[in-house]
This record gives sequence, structure tokens and C-alpha cells, in this order.
Amino acid sequence: MKRTITLLCAVLAVSAQAQTRDWENPAVLGINKLPYHATLQLPSKEKECKEIVSLDGQWLFHWSRNPEERPVKFYENDYDTSQWGRITVPGNWQTQGYGTPIYININYPFVKNRPSVTTEPPRDWTAYENRNPVGSYVTFFDVDKEQLDKNLILHFGGVHSAFYVWVNGQRVGYSQNSMTPAEFDVTKFVRAGSNRLAVEVYRWSDGSYLEDQDMWRLSGIYRPVQLWVRPKVHIADYQVTAEPSTAQKATVKASISLCNTGKKTAKSLQAVLLLDGHEVAGGVKLLAAGDTTVIALNYTIQNPRLWSAEKPNLYPFSVELRDRKGNVVEHFDYHLGVKHVEVVGEVFKINGKNVKLRGVNRHDHHPRTGRFVDDATYEEDIRLMKQANVNFLRTSHYPDREYLYELCDRWGIYVMDEANHETHGYGYANQEMGEDLAWQAAHVDRAESLVKRDFNHPSIILWSLGNEGGVGPNIEAMYNKVKELDSTRPPFYDSDRRYSCIWDDSYLYPDDLRKNAQQVTDKPFMMREYAHAMGNSMGNLQEYWDVIYADSSICGAAIWDWVDQGLEREGTFLYGGDFGDKPNDENFCINGIIGPDRKPHPHYYEVQHVYQPLQFVNDGSNIRIINRDNFTDVDEYAISYDTLRYGSETVLNAEARLKADKPWAKKGFTVAREQFVLKPYDFSCDFGGKPAESEQDDGGVKVTTDRGSVFIDNTGALTSWVVDGQQMLQAPLEPYFWKPENDNQRAAGFARRLAAWKDAAQNRTVHSYRAEINEEGLNIVYDMSLPVGADLTLTYAILADGRIKVSMNYIPTPNTEHPTIPKFGMRMRLPADYTQIKYYGRGPWENYPDRKRSAFLGTYEMPLSDYETEYVRPQDNGNRCDIRWFEISPLTANNSPLMITGLQPLCIRAWDYGEEDLEGVRHPNEINRGRFVNLNIDLNIHGVGGADTWGKRTLPQYTIDATLPHSYSFILDVVKP
Ligand code: GAL
Ligand code: MG
Repeated sequence: MKRTITLLCAVLAVSAQAQTRDWENPAVLGINKLPYHATLQLPSKEKECKEIVSLDGQWLFHWSRNPEERPVKFYENDYDTSQWGRITVPGNWQTQGYGTPIYININYPFVKNRPSVTTEPPRDWTAYENRNPVGSYVTFFDVDKEQLDKNLILHFGGVHSAFYVWVNGQRVGYSQNSMTPAEFDVTKFVRAGSNRLAVEVYRWSDGSYLEDQDMWRLSGIYRPVQLWVRPKVHIADYQVTAEPSTAQKATVKASISLCNTGKKTAKSLQAVLLLDGHEVAGGVKLLAAGDTTVIALNYTIQNPRLWSAEKPNLYPFSVELRDRKGNVVEHFDYHLGVKHVEVVGEVFKINGKNVKLRGVNRHDHHPRTGRFVDDATYEEDIRLMKQANVNFLRTSHYPDREYLYELCDRWGIYVMDEANHETHGYGYANQEMGEDLAWQAAHVDRAESLVKRDFNHPSIILWSLGNEGGVGPNIEAMYNKVKELDSTRPPFYDSDRRYSCIWDDSYLYPDDLRKNAQQVTDKPFMMREYAHAMGNSMGNLQEYWDVIYADSSICGAAIWDWVDQGLEREGTFLYGGDFGDKPNDENFCINGIIGPDRKPHPHYYEVQHVYQPLQFVNDGSNIRIINRDNFTDVDEYAISYDTLRYGSETVLNAEARLKADKPWAKKGFTVAREQFVLKPYDFSCDFGGKPAESEQDDGGVKVTTDRGSVFIDNTGALTSWVVDGQQMLQAPLEPYFWKPENDNQRAAGFARRLAAWKDAAQNRTVHSYRAEINEEGLNIVYDMSLPVGADLTLTYAILADGRIKVSMNYIPTPNTEHPTIPKFGMRMRLPADYTQIKYYGRGPWENYPDRKRSAFLGTYEMPLSDYETEYVRPQDNGNRCDIRWFEISPLTANNSPLMITGLQPLCIRAWDYGEEDLEGVRHPNEINRGRFVNLNIDLNIHGVGGADTWGKRTLPQYTIDATLPHSYSFILDVVKP
């Protein structure tokens, strides 16, 4: 009878295993996983830590497109892997030539039918053929006799999305939840000598339902793998908090967990905290085999130096485990920061101050290694953030690798650490996932793994429960878990505001931010995401901060987002669809203020300027400095004022520089700057002299000058301009009101709404023209009308010395409906070798009417290739505002530069391709370049926009009102060599 039952049980177990897949079962979050715990060793010190053996490197690898085709028995010791490929661990398999990266935003890349991730999708989806790819990994590691007596723990820093582990053919365990470590005790599976480690990774699992973040969907063992060789009795975890108790004292509380993984009772153990030159110890007399105990230690720091992003004061400390003889059994180094985070009514405070969080969101992304980001890139990112005066980072939308937090601790960035949780595919604030209790444990697992791993980082000020997820009890359970684990940092959440200490309302226009923040009276307010930095964007950033600084209940805002998530192939950055991935969301992953290669975009500098901690303001008689920081005095910077003369104009440049080296910048680095015009530019100019001579031709007017000729056709286009024997024009100078869309405008229907302007200039009707002589020389005047309903007068004044003054005057017909003008001005094309630019105007980087505060007036010199901005998806670019004069010349020395002088400020764009060459182009290397130089000489141009890329528009003050008259003039001159 007994035998039958055993047999029956065995049969049941086997069939149960066959029916339910752990990776399509939300009740199975892990098998034999060790409890989550804090990062024990400071990441930068891991290499020196004798406990930690890295298993990273080249592993054997096999990729299958679906679970059915995977090599099922590959974990067996004698399985033949001689035909397998190699893969670098850590790394994603899609960035190493296996399978297809998929970029998708809101929807799931597989058929939504939870918990299944293998339901048949439409045939053209990537997931149809590759239903759920499996990566099979094998590597070997050595263990010596001495190590066999230790407790051996396999540590996986991050594996996407679910995986099984075998050692020497024996199954060790299973894990999902892909952005925090999974650990397994492998002591009993290991033998002296070489050990075979086999890992089977599934691209998708039920966990993927909680991992619907807007990002590249990549897979594999993408974070480090380590073997921890530890004493049988060891430190399982420690958590340290340090908060000021009075003005002169801070209380440090350490909870140190000791565990005994051995077979014998351990006696007289001591947990020691070494801090500030002191030792605090606590002991346990007996720790039974298999038991864990927590030892609480307290210490008081006198006159503590507080930690803040401005002054990241750290206290290094060590945690030791000593045996009864006092020998150190284990030792870890870490650091703490004394700080206090609180919400007081509507105000968010750090160390008692109403701080402003000048934030960015960041995905963990590298153009070549995908989700694995190396240390140097982390340092580059945090350096660039600090240099841009960013003081707040949201780790959207999951915990990053541990080293990032160490850098934030050391260099000073406030961190909102976010749980690996997004269920956007069910809708923002959905009930399906928020209320389905079968998924509650899976939700809580993500909150717990987050807080437990990162507990000891002083930089963390808020725990985020996730992004764009559910509402309901599952969120409440996450919230309660975070509260239970940490009382020093409150939970934040966007989709169910009941479970958030801060009210989030993202992507508002500045004006709505002001209004909405006033309506919320029970909590602080923030925009966890704003200023969607897709492509050529980030207009009106200052307008946001004027609102934020004016309302003490708004604690800040974080830009979406830090880095363009392009994947590099042969020097080109690819985005959704470029790998044949389906479905995909194209370039919606290209929203950074820096490129995938970490090269700052022009708008990076605007962020730097608007986020600067000091603001210089002109009171009329004085320059006043407003300090936006809380823990730094103005006199900690070297302040300087510089008066500069540019011809008739005088400007004052104010600067605040670092007085000493910082880890992220050298002494002398400019932290804040402003420019004031003391004496404005004199735009008047003597244009006059001997008139050129004209002669009527069939097709237009032929003008003769001392240096050559000019031809203006009957449409008013200046079609030929010969100077000293050289034809200056590849295409006529004529009115042109169109500009290609940028991403924001594309999303907001710009081309459709403003379509009337596309051919408005081309379809002009000339009603009359006349040639007359006045003090400005020979004047040829064209009176025309535009089909949009406006009169346009175009005047060319031409002198015998060859100079040409161009004036354009626009008068709208009353009571006609006029859409906004994309740009007001003219266009011409120069020979292709005109590639050297020098100008006096705003620069050096690209600027537009709504994004020009960081671009100061000055004279700048650069090649055309630097004047253009290469966006990952080509679009309108390269404008400079407030140009007084602009000189463009060919490389060859004996050719003469063309000088354009404004009679009022000009906007000028110059490209080595035309507007039409941007149409349908997905990447910069597809642009047909080099046939001519396209020059747009404008009075004004539509701003880039700055709210979102799904419909919001450029603020009206940065558009060109077509119901008002506009006029402008400029002078063209070919300077004699
Ligand atoms: C937000 C979302 C981000 C990203 C962004 C659009 O709503 O939280 O993850 O998708 O929209 O780029
Ligand atoms: Mg989303």
C-alpha cells in the first residue's frame, strides 16, 4: 500500500511538472532562491573582496527559438556542447548576434493572455516564429578542497527574464524578476575541481507581464555572475540607517543578520560595526545550525556632517563577524550618509529643507551591450548629470546595477529607486493587474527585492513602486511592504496616488503644472516625467522652472529621459523596426538629452543652464544672484563678470565656477552662467552707393554690377548671381516658409495643420514689379500675393559694387484663417564647397526661439558638419537665433566668403542637403548629402516644443502668428579675398 502511494505521488509530481510551466505560473517566483538582502560589499570594492569569485567571461551558448526546440538535457555532465557558440557574460544575447531585439513601448511583444507568453500571435510578429526563445548557457568553475568546507553561493546580478540553474547535472533552482539578484546555495552540489554550471534562460515568462517597460526587450544573463565563497557562519544581511536626532547628533542604527549554514551550533559570535574610529559590537551566545539572528547596534555620531546631493558627506564603515576567539571571520566595507527625508504637509524636505529635485529619468542602456552598462559608462553618465546640474535621478523603470548607486552616494545625486514593475499593456492605472490577487505575491516580490538590495545607499530618497501599473490591493501590498521594510524613505507611485507620498502628474504644459499643483493640497507635487526630449526638442524648459520655483509644494520634475536608446550597428544607431522586429514603436526610444554614445545633444546644455543652482538676475541697477541650492553658499563658487565687445554691442557674461576639484569636474568648471546685454547691437547700416544697372529680359531682369551679374526671374526669384566669375547659386534665393517637422511636431500634426505653407511661396502670384533708383541703389520690387491669403512685397536693392539688400514684407489679408507660419524667410543653395561658417549670434550649439537661453551671443566658427545636428532620426535641425552677421566660405583659400548681415536678428539654418532629402529617411547615413549647401535665412522659426511627443504643441509665444504683419531685411555681400 505504502509503495503504491509513493508511486502515485511520483506520477502526479511528474505530470504536474509537465502541465505547469514555472515560467507561465505567477505563483512560482523562484525555487530555492535565497532571501533577498542588501548589497554587502561596496560595488567598487568587490574585486578586492576575497569572498567574491567572478564567473564572468566567455560561456558556451546555444539559442533556440522556442522551448520545444531547446536542448532539454544540456545540463547533464556529458552533454555534447562541442558545436555550441560562445557568448560574453554579462551581456544580452540579442546584442551578440542571437535572436531579435524588439523595441516596443506600451504593448506586450507577445500575445496578452496571462500567464501565457506563448499564445499564437499574428504571423508577422517576431514572436510568431520565435515564440519564446531559450538561451542555454554552460560554463565551468573551479573549487578547491578548502573552499569545499565553505558555504558556496551562486549570485546572478540580473537575468532576463526567467531561468533554471543546474550544477554538475543537478537542478539547483529557478528564478524570475529580472532586475535584481537571484542567489542559490550550491554548497551541496559542488565538488573539488571543475564544476559544470548550466543555466537555461527564457526570453519571456509570466514575470514579463510585470516588465512591460518602454524599452528594448532584451534577454539573457546581462549582469555579473559570482560565486561567493563564505564561511558557514556568515553575515546574511545588514541594514544601516543614519538620521540626525538633534542638531548635534545623528543616530546610526545597524541591524546585522548572522546565519549559520553549517551543521553545528556556532558559539559566541560577535557582529561589529566599525565607524568613525569606534567599534560597536553585539553578540549571540549560540546560533543553532540553520538559524539566523539579527543583532541590533546603535551608535551616535557627534556633530554629523549631513549627506545631500550638494554635499555628499559619507562615513565609511565596516561590518565584521568575529568568532569566539575574536578572529575576523568576515568583513565588508560600506558607507553611510546622515540624512532625513520627510513629507511635511505639501512640502517634500531633505534635512529640513524644501529641496527642488532637478531631475532626469534614465534607462540602463548601452548602444553595444544593451542592458549591461559597464562602470566607465556609469561614471560618464553621472559625471554628465552632475555637470548638467541634475540633482535627481529616477532609475526608470527598475533597479540598475549596484555601482550606479554607489556613484550617486559619492558624487551626490538624489535617487528615486524604482521597482521592476510596469503593466502598461493593461493600461495606465489598470485594475486587471492591480486587483488580481493571483499576482499579488509577484508584485510584492518586486518591491521587496528593490528595498532589500539597495537599502544601504544614502543617495536613495524615495522608493518607487513602479511605473504605469495597476491600481488596487496589489499596489497597496507593495506599499505596505516598503513601509514595513524602511521607515526612513517613503514610497512613491504614479498610477495609484493613494499609495504615494507625492502627487505625480506628468507631461503638463507649464501653465497646467501651475494650476494642477495649486489644486492638490494634501501632498507635495511632482512631474516624475516631463519635457519629453525626443529628437530636436526641450523647448520652454525655463517656463517649467519658473513655475516650480514659484510654488513650494512642487518638489521638482524629471526629464524624459537621459540617453537615446539606440543600438549601434556599424556606426549607425538603430531603433524599433530596424531589426525587423514586430510589433515595434520606431524611434520612440530615442528621447535622450545625450546620444547613445553619450555625446550631449544641444538641449543637454539648455538643461544645464535651466538647472543651474545659481541664477543671475538683472535688477535694473545690479546683478543679483539667486541661490537655488540649500546646503551651499554662493561664496563657495568663484564668481566672475566679464565685459565683452562685439562691434557695436557690449555684453556682460557672469559665471560661477568651482573653486576646487570635484570627482565629476575640475576646479574652474562653470556651474552657472548668464549673459546680459549692456549695449544692444546697432542693426542700422549704411547701404547705398552707385546703383547697379538693369536691363529687361524676357524671363526677368538682368542686372550688371562691377563684379558680375544678377538675374531675377518674373516670379521674383533671384536665380543667378555671378561674382568675380563665380556662380554663387545652386538654387535660387526666394521666399520659403516651410521647415521639416521635428519629432514633437510630427506627433502634433504639424505637417497637416500647417500644410498651407508648404507650397505657399512656390504658388505665389506676382501682380506687378518695378525697377527704380533711390539712395539704396537699384531697387527691384515685386508685389505678390500668397495663396494663404496675404500680400508679400519683395525688394532687391542692388549696388554697382555687387552688394544686394533683400527685404520681405508680409501683410495678411484681414479676416482670413491663417495657420501659424513654420518659418518666415527665404532660402537659397550655395555650391557644395561652402562648408566653413563664422557668425555672430547665439551659439555655439543649435538653438531655437524656445530653446536658446544657454546659447549666448558670441562669434563662433565651425565647419558646416558641426553647424548641423545629427539626430538619430533625421529631422529639422541646426538653427541659430539672433544672428547679427553670418559668413560662409569655401574651404579653398582663394574663394570669397559670402557675408549675410541682418538688419534685425536672423535665424539661419545651413545643411549639406535639402528639406526634401529628409523625407522618408530613417538614419543619418541615408541622407543624400553634398550636392549643395542649403541656406535658410529667416526672420523667425517655429519653436521645437517642449511638453510631449504625442500631441502637445509649441507654446504660442514661440510660434509665428500669421495674422500679424512681418518684415525683415538682410544684406548679401561676397567679400573680396
Ligand atoms: C511615459 C512612460 C515612459 C515612456 C514615455 C514616453 O509615460 O512612463 O516609460 O514610455 O512615456 O517616451
Ligand atoms: Mg509605459
